[in-house]
Amino acid sequence: MERKPLIAGNWKMNLDLDEAVSLVNAIADSISGFQEVDVLVAPPFTALTAVKQAIGNSKILLGGQNMHWEMSGAFTGEISGKMLQEIGCTHIILGHSERRMLFGETSEVIDLKVKSAVALGLVPILCIGETIEQKEAGQTFEVIEDQLVASLKNFRVNKDLPPSTVLAYEPVWAIGTGLTATPEQAQEVHYFIRKWVENNFDSKLAQQIRILYGGSVKPDNVKELMSETDIDGALVGGASLKSDSFVRLIRFQEV
Ligand code: 13P
Repeated sequence: MERKPLIAGNWKMNLDLDEAVSLVNAIADSISGFQEVDVLVAPPFTALTAVKQAIGNSKILLGGQNMHWEMSGAFTGEISGKMLQEIGCTHIILGHSERRMLFGETSEVIDLKVKSAVALGLVPILCIGETIEQKEAGQTFEVIEDQLVASLKNFRVNKDLPPSTVLAYEPVWAIGTGLTATPEQAQEVHYFIRKWVENNFDSKLAQQIRILYGGSVKPDNVKELMSETDIDGALVGGASLKSDSFVRLIRFQEV
């Protein structure tokens, strides 16, 4: 099964409006006519409208970094998936380790968010990954399985997870640290995740779903990572904030 690679930039809480627009313009210029890879950017909420406008007719996909699971209501400081959709988002990053660890998001809450996103027709990019302590205690697979079970609880009941769903394996110890999982380490976990999807849903879905790797992905390690069978793309933080490095990631086949 051929899965089209997806290179996604998670800008986190970075870039001012001018920088955001310049970056997306530069990406759009450099990939015009380039169809081999799907490209997504996830700017901060306040830049979404300007970035959407700058995207124009380019094929760059737009994602949010987080959302509330309700459509509207008394939730001060929150943004609903419907609101994100209204300004042009088609994708939504959910369960990022920074949300889980710094803002206390549990897999139960993430499950509600994934359910709400799918009901709206937003494509969830569900993040999972172990900490360094968990890795050193040999708990990587257990942690990944627990996160998958709890974050996709709603879908396991009816076995109705859409094939467009994206899973992102982001080992917490590799995020922003310059430490990357070796391609073999990442592949082992990606294979485990795909097997889990097969065992809990079906083999067709397991072959369709894209699994991204995230954690210090850079132009000099992307090709090796992407050569692994079960790595279908990258969720990139730092290297997505500059057009030259992000475009080199998108054009990883030419690196
Ligand atoms: P870095 O690429 O900066 O390590 O961040 C990865 C990440 O958290 C993407 O969501």
